[in-house]
Amino acid sequence: MKLSDRHEKLLKRTFIDFHQMSEVIKSPLIFEKAQGLYCWDIQGKRYFDAIGGIFVAVLGHRHPRVMEAMRVQMGKMTLAPPMHGISDVTLDLIEKLGSVTPGNVNYIKPFSGGSESLEAAMKFSRQYFKQTGHPGKYKFISCYLSYHGATFAAMAAGGSGKRKMKFEPQMNGFLKVFSPIQLRDSFSTWEETNRFSARMFEDVIVNEGPETVACVILEPICNTGGIVTPTDEYFRMVRETCDRHNVLLIFDEVLTGFGKTGDMFAAQTFGTTPDIICAGKGLTSGAVPVGAMMAREDLADAFYGPPGEGLEFAHGHTFAGNPLACAAGIAVIDEIVDKALDKKARALGEYLAGKLEGLKSLGVVREIRGKGVLRGVELVKDAVTMEQFPMGKKLGTALKKTSIENGLIMRIDPDWFAICPPLIAEESDLDELCGLIEKSLKEALDLVE
Ligand SMILES: Cc1ncc(COP(=O)(O)O)c(C=O)c1O
Repeated sequence: MKLSDRHEKLLKRTFIDFHQMSEVIKSPLIFEKAQGLYCWDIQGKRYFDAIGGIFVAVLGHRHPRVMEAMRVQMGKMTLAPPMHGISDVTLDLIEKLGSVTPGNVNYIKPFSGGSESLEAAMKFSRQYFKQTGHPGKYKFISCYLSYHGATFAAMAAGGSGKRKMKFEPQMNGFLKVFSPIQLRDSFSTWEETNRFSARMFEDVIVNEGPETVACVILEPICNTGGIVTPTDEYFRMVRETCDRHNVLLIFDEVLTGFGKTGDMFAAQTFGTTPDIICAGKGLTSGAVPVGAMMAREDLADAFYGPPGEGLEFAHGHTFAGNPLACAAGIAVIDEIVDKALDKKARALGEYLAGKLEGLKSLGVVREIRGKGVLRGVELVKDAVTMEQFPMGKKLGTALKKTSIENGLIMRIDPDWFAICPPLIAEESDLDELCGLIEKSLKEALDLVE
């Protein structure tokens, strides 16, 4: 895109997350509008948004039901800071979310983003243990490669060095185990890899001392690791380990929640109920910033007691439970439930996986991972020897360029790419998407060869 002087001047006054602006300024994407599966830039070029923003727009952009719910709410109230009260529509969202969470994960606090939800879950857990006779339980165990948000504690829980090193020293009390994907070449099957990986949580808890460990924090499917998709057994084993040692299991479902994996939450897809679920992104399909911490209802008992004893959860944000976000969230959940879009995600996901399998004929696809419409494709130089593309000549880097040229937005890393088309997509849309992917991948191959 050719830049006007004004755009160049203004771009220099801001930044695009995690990007070097000197590169961005050479050909920035400046969007003007979005509808359904597509976005348009300021020059009118259309893009197939294959990740719904960034794993957000589960119903596509500006879904009519969500827009209408917000319009109605705008006629009533748009701000209700949770300091002296709560808006009625926030209670409606709490009821709605409680009706779709697994088990008794019904104690719910809406927030304004995923990182806020993670911060709240970690603070909730530490305060919970202090008030239930285990004041020494403060450590968090999570996985290398994971991403849990950009704020300080969420960053410390994250497992990607390059997103953390510049901000050292990190907060203490955060421990890591390897992600199954980092160990897969040491085992003959994915199942075996997962069993070993799950057992590491037990090893770390025992060696650290269970009386010091508060939580295990897991993304059911880890995006930043390349759509790492563990087995059902992995989560079952981690759940049993947590139960044995009175450790809370937190699922970070900021990315996986709201139908994408074939169920409302990935917890249901993998058949394991955590103690706390953190959500965000998809809950409003991108219409308004949102997040939510959802905990087992009985855990909340620890926060009740006589006034003055300080048992209440010592936490809050100005925009938590914002009425517009709550109205949008209710509309999203209603639409998913009424149209059974989570079930639709399973069928669409099978279709999508089948089409992506076709890319293997290019000889550079090692593996296709994911559940439902959330899919990742791992790229290697040689799919027989599994040799990787060399640094500086990564296929993903070239794909980033060719896909944008072809009007396609995906989540692309040097060695893999991910897509998560909105649940409003039909098979014909996925045909269009996979055509764009194949074209972009072939052109990227030309660039690296
Ligand atoms: C798994 C996961 N957790 C937490 C976050 C942080 O959410 P937010 O960017 O809304 O703060 C993200 C964002 O990408 C995420 O993918």
